[in-house]
Amino acid sequence: MDAMLGNCSLDRLRKRQSFKWRAYPPDVLPSFVAEMDFDLAEPVAEAVRAALALGDTGYPHRGQLGEAFAAFAAKRLRWQVDPDAVFSIPDVMTGIAEMAQALTPPGSAIVINPPVYPPFFFRLGFTGRRIVEAPLRRDEGGRYDLDPEALDRALAADGVSAYLLCSPHNPTGRVWSREQLMTVANICQRRGVILLADEIHAPLVLPGAQHVSVLSLDHDMTQRSIVFTSASKGWNIAGLKCGVAVAGAPEYARVLTERVEALLAGNIGVLANVAAFTDGLPWLDALIGQLDRNRGVLADLLAERLAGVGYVPPEASFLAWLDCRALGLGANPAAEFLARGRVALGQGPDFGTQGTGFVRLNMGTSPELIGAAVDRMAASVPARPGEQ
Ligand SMILES: Cc1ncc(COP(=O)(O)O)c(C=O)c1O
Repeated sequence: MDAMLGNCSLDRLRKRQSFKWRAYPPDVLPSFVAEMDFDLAEPVAEAVRAALALGDTGYPHRGQLGEAFAAFAAKRLRWQVDPDAVFSIPDVMTGIAEMAQALTPPGSAIVINPPVYPPFFFRLGFTGRRIVEAPLRRDEGGRYDLDPEALDRALAADGVSAYLLCSPHNPTGRVWSREQLMTVANICQRRGVILLADEIHAPLVLPGAQHVSVLSLDHDMTQRSIVFTSASKGWNIAGLKCGVAVAGAPEYARVLTERVEALLAGNIGVLANVAAFTDGLPWLDALIGQLDRNRGVLADLLAERLAGVGYVPPEASFLAWLDCRALGLGANPAAEFLARGRVALGQGPDFGTQGTGFVRLNMGTSPELIGAAVDRMAASVPARPGEQ
């Protein structure tokens, strides 16, 4: 692996005190939550060290965040962003929940595309909004896609006020095309809803795909859209508590300004995001190269050791959505993998009923640790009669 990423030594990782490394006993290999195992990007670490040396641990100021994110978006996402439309938020889910509360009527409904990141269900539920599902469709090869008819039907349901799009999509790893997003924008406009776009995985689009932000579309719907993103997945700094909201209209900028107290980021998080978006690109490139290799490594390992598992390599990020229904491990295979193999994976049913029989594996680590996770999974599968 590139020296910038470190070597993912398990001895060292087990000294971390984050959720990933504390949630299970030490004999369990954690591969569930979306934290990566690589060393921190040096410019990010340096920004944190410099802030600590100054005692710069007070309340956040947006500082250079707008300019830094706009420069990153122009360079990497082919998206021209007005720095004044960029706001710091503590994290993406809090930004989404707060804006859902501010912009949609209590008791109204928000459409999501399961299988999808589990907090989409419960964080929106906590705001008193109902969920209406427009499931992704899945073809025979296991590839997921947006389903425009299902989306249109869902948005037409009683009391729907907003659509929460995940782009790139977690857990399927799909990157939506400009054409697909134009179709989505047309449907949203026709149905008169607002569009909340979770683009947190956008910095991690892998070779062969290109992220298109909904706010970069040539479409009137941009006036009714807000994008939420962050350096938190791309540079593994979720614990520093800073995300980015980009307002598509002055009205949304006003609401974000008004709610500043409810949306305070960590000051060190803001500084770390600025460092990531400006000086963190060589590290990001090394990471993307490794993730590109890792998605192939996983394909080879599964073919060799767990041939019954369905896997379509992701187009973005470091999460693999694995169809384990052929293994005979029941509705929640992650429970069996944990009990028998001592490997902790994301539980498919948490992502919606469409996740029954699936697990999510985290590839944000070394090929060796991906191999160890697959070995533990393989050891959990009961031998079929006649097999050794
Ligand atoms: C799609 C998606 N949104 C949001 C989050 C969480 O981000 P945050 O910690 O900024 O709320 C994640 C984390 O994995 C995610 O995958």
